[in-house]
Amino acid sequence: MAVTRTFSIIKPDATRRNLTGAVTKMLEDAGLRVVASKRIQMTKEQAEGFYAVHKERPFFGELVDFMISGPVVLQVLEGEDAVKRNRDVMGATNPADADEGTIRKSYAESIEANSVHGSDSDENAKTEIEFFFAEDEIVG
Ligand code: RTP
Ligand code: MG
Repeated sequence: MAVTRTFSIIKPDATRRNLTGAVTKMLEDAGLRVVASKRIQMTKEQAEGFYAVHKERPFFGELVDFMISGPVVLQVLEGEDAVKRNRDVMGATNPADADEGTIRKSYAESIEANSVHGSDSDENAKTEIEFFFAEDEIVG
């Protein structure tokens, strides 16, 4: 299977509870390697741009407010079939539906404050990585 990249965000509910290391350990234990990482305070413009695909959805405004409510950790993850590998360890969007052993089952507070984001396709991973990282910040 090919080694690919995906994009991850450790969301404000997780950074607020000092779970950056705990979440990253679960990603690493799942076979993913952090090849780029930075902690930022997202601006409203960045959050609206990043989640533009969801702008017609009823939760868009709340989602943007949540994503700028505290710092986030942006990461590029590399591994075999990275998009699926990451989505598998993240678990279902709603923690009530997430499997045991997943990040969201372990740490998410709600369907919105669900601790992590992960790209849902190789194509979106490329777009999302380029949204936040310059090529020389990725040093796998
Ligand atoms: P993500 O994009 O963050 O990796 O999560 P996902 O694919 O599992 O979920 P998606 O449908 O893309 O939704 C993006 C994020 O919006 C928030 N959300 N809130 N209030 C709600 O009903 C609701 N539904 C989704 C979550 O933070 C979700 O991760
Ligand atoms: Mg999504």
